[in-house]
Amino acid sequence: MKVGIVGGTGEIGEGMAMRLSRIYEVLVGSRDEHKALETCECCLKAADEKGMPCSVQGLTNQEVVEGADVIILAIPYKHLDGTIAGLHGFEGKIVISPINPMEKKDCFLYVPPAEGSAALHLQTLLPESSRICVAFNNIAGNRWRDIDEELEYSVAVCGDDAEAKATVMDIIDRISLLKSYDAGPLVMSSIIESITPLVLNIARCNRMKDVGIRFV
Ligand SMILES: NC(=O)c1ccc[n+]([C@@H]2O[C@H](COP(=O)([O-])OP(=O)(O)OC[C@H]3O[C@@H](n4cnc5c(N)ncnc54)[C@H](OP(=O)(O)O)[C@@H]3O)[C@@H](O)[C@H]2O)c1
Repeated sequence: MKVGIVGGTGEIGEGMAMRLSRIYEVLVGSRDEHKALETCECCLKAADEKGMPCSVQGLTNQEVVEGADVIILAIPYKHLDGTIAGLHGFEGKIVISPINPMEKKDCFLYVPPAEGSAALHLQTLLPESSRICVAFNNIAGNRWRDIDEELEYSVAVCGDDAEAKATVMDIIDRISLLKSYDAGPLVMSSIIESITPLVLNIARCNRMKDVGIRFV
C-alpha cells in the first residue's frame, strides 16, 4: 500500500514519513519537489543509521494524490482550501485529516469553520467518493520526528466509511506503540480536533511537554 503525505515536509509530515517509510511505500509531497527530496534524504539517513528498511519517494503534492492509496493532509488549516483547490484526483481515495483549526491567544482556542470542524469543511471541498477519516490530531509533531522514542498514545479515528476507517486503524496500529480507537462517524471530528488545544493548554499551564491522550 502506498501512503502519501501532502505537506510531507512539515513538522508532522516529516516525522510521519520517517516512521511510515519503514512499514509502507511512502510518497512525500510538497509544493516544491526539492523540499520533498530533502525530507526523503532525512528519512533514508535516519533509517540507514539504524539498519532499518526505508521506502520513500519525493514528489509534488499532485503526484502524491495520483500515486497514493491513502493520503494524509499534513498542512495547516489556513492553507487547506488553497491546497485542495490546486489538486485533483481524490476520487475513491482514503484521505486522513490530522488538521486542527486553532488559534493561539492567551490560551489555545479551537476555532472551527461554519461546518463544525476542519474535516467536515474538507468534505465540502473533496469529491463525494473520497473517504475521509480523522486521525493523528492529538500527537505532538516533535514526537513523530523523535524516532528513537516510542509513540505510546491512543489515536481516536472517526469517519463515515467503515472500510476506510479499518484501513486507517490498521496503519495506526503498526506504528510504534500507537493504539487506534474507533470514535464513530465523521461528525465526531470536532471533538477529536478540539482535544488538541485542550492538551496544549494543559501542557502550558502545568509546565508539561508533549501532552497526549491514552484511553484505558
Ligand atoms: N505540529 C503539530 O504538533 C501537530 C500535531 C497534530 C496535528 N497537527 C496538524 O497537522 C497539520 C500540519 O501541521 P504542521 O505543524 O506539520 O504544519 P507546518 O509544518 O506548518 O506545515 C506543513 C506543510 O504545509 C505546507 N505549506 C506551508 N504553507 C503552505 C501554503 N501557503 N500553501 C500550501 N501548503 C503550505 C508546507 O509544505 P511545502 O512547503 O513543502 O509545500 C509545510 O511543510 C496542521 O493542520 C495541524 O493542525 C499538527
